[in-house]
Amino acid sequence: RRAAVLISGRGSNMVSLIEAASASGFPADIALVLSNRSDAAGLQRARAAGIATAIVDHRSHPTRESFEQAMDAVLVEHGIEFICLAGFMRVLTDWFVERWAGRMINIHPSLLPLFRGTHTHRRALEEGVLIHGCTVHFVVPELDAGPIIAQAAVPVIPGDTEESLAARILVQEHRLYPHALRMICDGSARLENGRVVFSGDW
Ligand code: GRF
Repeated sequence: RRAAVLISGRGSNMVSLIEAASASGFPADIALVLSNRSDAAGLQRARAAGIATAIVDHRSHPTRESFEQAMDAVLVEHGIEFICLAGFMRVLTDWFVERWAGRMINIHPSLLPLFRGTHTHRRALEEGVLIHGCTVHFVVPELDAGPIIAQAAVPVIPGDTEESLAARILVQEHRLYPHALRMICDGSARLENGRVVFSGDW
């Protein structure tokens, strides 16, 4: 299975996916890293790992649709079957989401459906939750709302700051995302009629 990782920034989740996929027996290859920003730090890390990279700069497109058509063309050109959004900071149109329905996943730094959107760690601390975490879900048009494939929980510890909490969760993100990619590529998590159907050894 050929998978692409879409990034806009540092790409630490991308690195965890590349490392996991390089192990023998993993059901996907990371065949492409695509960024909408030429200065995304993750691009260097992808190149260093020998992965093909592409830049589709949203600012050089007049509309969201033309930006996404350009991305889609690059993905098709590289024979991509699955997409992992990993810190990709562009909202996607219904057209793109539907085109990749059941084949595009995202990692979000909260236990969805709590804390959709940005600044999840700050909001978790403000709300005083004692359990926080991360979620991998299929992408649907509504932001951070898709069917859940996998989650990891972490404790919130007295004295936590946004940074300390983010760091504790990031460790779990790096475990969770490869696990979820494996599940969609080997068919043990499938999107059917808007729900995730799990199969395999449970
Ligand atoms: C991660 O916290 C991820 O959950 C969120 O954006 C961040 C990306 O970090 N969607 P990185 O670029 O993978 O290091």
